[in-house]
Amino acid sequence: MRRTSTAWPHISLCTLIGLGALAGCGAEGDLSDSQSDDFNRRGNDERNRQPRNPAALPGTDMTAFEAGLEAFAEAETIEDGLGPTFNENGCGTCHTSPVVGGSGDQIERRFGRMQDGAFYAFDLDEENQGGTLRQLFSNERYRMGNASCRIPVETEPPTANVRNVGRRTQPLFGLGLVDALPDSFFDALAAAQPTAIRGIAQRVRVTLPDPRDPSQSVGSLRVGRFGWKGLVPTLLVFSGDAYDNEMGITTQSCFRGTSVLEFAMENHPNNVTAPNGCNGGDLAPSQPPGVAEVPEWTDDAVGPCTGGRTEIQDDLLLFTTFMERLAPPAREQPRDRRAAQRIERGEQVFSGIGCAGCHVTSTFRTPANPYNGVPGNFAFRPYSDFLVHDMGSLGDGIGQTGDPAAQTRLMRTQPLWGARFNPFYLHDGRARDIQSAILEHAGQGAASRSSFRSLSRDDQAALIEFVRSL
Ligand code: HEC
Ligand code: HEC
Repeated sequence: MRRTSTAWPHISLCTLIGLGALAGCGAEGDLSDSQSDDFNRRGNDERNRQPRNPAALPGTDMTAFEAGLEAFAEAETIEDGLGPTFNENGCGTCHTSPVVGGSGDQIERRFGRMQDGAFYAFDLDEENQGGTLRQLFSNERYRMGNASCRIPVETEPPTANVRNVGRRTQPLFGLGLVDALPDSFFDALAAAQPTAIRGIAQRVRVTLPDPRDPSQSVGSLRVGRFGWKGLVPTLLVFSGDAYDNEMGITTQSCFRGTSVLEFAMENHPNNVTAPNGCNGGDLAPSQPPGVAEVPEWTDDAVGPCTGGRTEIQDDLLLFTTFMERLAPPAREQPRDRRAAQRIERGEQVFSGIGCAGCHVTSTFRTPANPYNGVPGNFAFRPYSDFLVHDMGSLGDGIGQTGDPAAQTRLMRTQPLWGARFNPFYLHDGRARDIQSAILEHAGQGAASRSSFRSLSRDDQAALIEFVRSL
């Protein structure tokens, strides 16, 4: 929690004053230039070593990036508003591997009920448990004045029949580039896919619009490209969502005179509010009374939204700035010529058996003037279409209330860049290595899994080496 006021940092010196030819402004270079040249500039010995700090995209205002990194890495306390329930105390406590902003070994838990062909997310009046996420920790016991307060840990209700579903921490490198892509880009990817494996560019509501993008407003639609289920449209929305749902830190922002309360309400264990006199479940000061736009227990609020005011809560700005400026992971350099040849062979096999249908190998490019200030015309290769696919038995069975079973099986193609840094694989971390991850593909991924099975051992190994090199 930071009390200073922050604004969107200026985009970059390069973009603003057109110094495209200066060192560090090479946004238009080819892939080897543009993908985190910080990694590439190291000497031979160091080349494949893990960097200690995350690299930033070219043209990044490093002061703003470091302020974002600091906020992202900060551990919050009950006095800052952590809880009443939470999964961890900082973004950077989960996103750790191999550096802050990466994947991690935390696995969250969700539950729900499938009944008469429809999913129930335990979020309506009847049996309302506050949704499908079961936070793993609570503020337990604390003192508030004379009151001794107790917040229990959330439990799964006995009437749930989809239980203990895992969600692994995802890496965040390069996602600012993905955020910059227009919806039409994803529509075109879907249209180009063979019908048997065609993904869906899933439109979701933008609950907290990004003031830098004139096409976003409260409730407008955008392709959901983030999260295992592809249900989150922007890094800004993810910031508000994760601060609230992972950490229990609630925020209020103003957008063109509207108070955005999507992330302003605390999650209570099994939807049972904290006892009276317990400050709403944590020890952050309550909001001053008499401001209709701000609920009493919102932890960090910007205040009244009168006069058409637009202001995004400052922590959310900081998290977003940090994430959107994270450079993509650099490819691993092969040890020798033989390794290079095997990786090349692996790439051919990868495409040959249909992996590239979803983990597309084509080069993406940001628009000329991205709304979020990442470099324009920037080339990158995430090895994902960011679409959701019916993954059959690999689907996690979690949906939103009313969803049919097929909807609950939809999973977003996980990007493969930097996959070698993940402690384990797939949405619930069930796979310890890349081979096991491939063998779990089902539904729209079943055909390529079968083709993988029938490859020679050599070709299987080459394919895995290729994936490990990304
Ligand atoms: C308890 C561990 C944990 C904490 C704390 C946490 N995350 Fe995450 N993060 C995850 C998990 C798990 C996922 C996958 C979520 C899902 O799809 O259900 C994720 C996914 C994401 C994604 C989507 C990545 C992608 O590939 O689409 C973003 C963005 C993100 N987190 C940002 C944040 C920010 C910002 C914070 C702090 C406010 C934060 N996270 C705190 C565990 C965590
Ligand atoms: C129909 C689309 C589709 C095809 C085809 C496909 N994948 Fe995937 N892949 C996905 C989706 C979706 C996920 C995430 C699934 C999950 O965890 O629930 C995924 C996850 C993965 C992962 C785990 C990544 C991580 O970080 O957890 C690896 C590795 C992978 N795929 C490799 C491959 C390979 C190799 C092939 C070809 C044999 C392939 N995939 C074919 C859609 C596809």
